[in-house]
Order: sequence, then C-alpha cells, then structure tokens
Amino acid sequence: MFNSSPLTAAQSAEEVKTPGLAGAAQAAGDGGARPRHVAIIMDGNGRWAKARGLPRLAGHRRGAETVRRIVEAAPDLGVEWLTLYAFSTENWKRSAEEVTGLMELFAIYIRREGRELKRRGARVRFIGERGRLAPDLAAAMARLEADTAQNDKLNLTIAINYGGRDEIAAAARRLAEDVAAGRLDPACVDAAALEARLNTCGFPDPDLVIRTSGEMRTSNFLPWQTAYSEFAFVDDFWPDFTVERFGEALASFGARQRRFGAVG
Ligand code: FPP
Repeated sequence: MFNSSPLTAAQSAEEVKTPGLAGAAQAAGDGGARPRHVAIIMDGNGRWAKARGLPRLAGHRRGAETVRRIVEAAPDLGVEWLTLYAFSTENWKRSAEEVTGLMELFAIYIRREGRELKRRGARVRFIGERGRLAPDLAAAMARLEADTAQNDKLNLTIAINYGGRDEIAAAARRLAEDVAAGRLDPACVDAAALEARLNTCGFPDPDLVIRTSGEMRTSNFLPWQTAYSEFAFVDDFWPDFTVERFGEALASFGARQRRFGAVG
C-alpha cells in the first residue's frame, strides 16, 4: 500500500490487519515532512520481561511480535526504508542461553514471516558481520535477500551482529587495500569513497532514529549514516511500542526543521 498518500485509501482495510494503523495515521498527521528512512534501536525487551517476572527471552519473543506489527504498518505510514537493530557486536557478551535464543528467534522470524514479507513487496536485507553466525541462519538470510531482491514497497534492513565502528574500520581497510593495489588514487579517498564501502552502500541515510525504553544513546548503530539524522527517544519498552506510538514519532519528525549545517 505504499503510495504518495499512504494514510487514506489503505487505512480502513489495513486497520483490520494492523491494529492501531488508523490511530497512527492520525498521530503521524498529514501536513509535515515524513521520514523516508527510519532506523530503530529496539530496546527494553529484558526490562519488559523482568517487570513481569518472565525470562528475558519472553521479552524478545514479544519484541518479535512488535517487529511484525511495525514492519507491516511502515509502508502505510509513508516509510520507504526501515532499518532495525536486532543484535549488536556487543550482544555476544550476554548469556549463551540468551544469545542462542535470539539467534533462534531470528531464524523463526525469517521462516514464519519470509513469505509474507515477500508477498507484501518488502525487500529484505541484512547488515552486519555474518561470519560468526550459524551457517543455517546465514543461509536463510541470504535466501530471503535473494527471494525479495526484486521488491520495492519497503526496504527492510535488519542489523544482526552489526557494529558501526567495525563497519567503518572494514570500509577503511578496503580503501587501504584499493590504494595499495593501485586501484584507487589516495587523492580520491573522500567521504563518498568510504561510504561506497559500507554495508549500507546505496541506502539513503536515516532521516529519523527511534530508540525505545527511555535510554538516550546510539550504541554504535549506524554512526556514519546518522550524522544528520533526527532522533526520537520513546519511553515504552520495545514489546509495548505500538503502531500509534510509531505514528507519533513520525509526527515529531514532521515538526522539526532540518538544516544540515546551513542557516534556517
Ligand atoms: C534490546 O533489548 C533488544 C535486543 C538486543 C534484541 C532485539 C531483538 C528483538 C526485538 C527480537 C526479534 C527481532 C527480529 C528482527 C525478529 P534488551 O534485551 O537490551 O533490553 P533491556 O535493556 O531491557 O535489557
């Protein structure tokens, strides 16, 4: 349902499938600028579970349901690119049980949602270092990328084993290799040359970054790409993050004036 007036025609029919969409559309408003690319730091699964006396994995499972709802709603709210931080390079420090559980959850998500994502026209990509992932999971990720490569209704990117500094360091290494091999003139090493060697080559930069759970930091998520992004920090834990709240965050973006360093 991705079109230039995303909040009207699709609204009533989609509301049945995506609870809260009408409210989100209202919250997002019709007037202001809309973020084309939204990146989300999905935080608070553990605290959501703890508050209910549940194991952390129960929070992640609920978080996966929120992922489904937000992904479903995004195109109807005018979002063309959605990038989700699912597992950072630092998350390996968690217990083996939690890490294994998260990896299983990613595999289940791909298995259960893959066909639906394809049907809905989402192009799915993964960013992050895949070498440390289980071969089965890495293969399922690659298959979903290939299966959805022709889609263009929503560009969904999921960051798994992603670390922004590692990504920049790897890009710098590729630049150095190209210079050393004589493929690149050192005088041509500039921001565009580095950007072309990032995982996100060809992606627009995020316009808006949302972080849930009340924490106000960026945790090594897309540090290069978010240099001029707007930020929205939301108090809800990720499992409680609703489509309406998503709409409100999009609306807060519309009220801002972006100057990119110029005078407004
Ligand atoms: C941060 O909350 C969340 C994560 C490290 C995992 C994110 C994973 C999901 C939302 C599950 C499914 C994802 C996909 C793409 C299917 P936290 O555990 O650090 O929360 P806390 O700060 O309250 O402990």
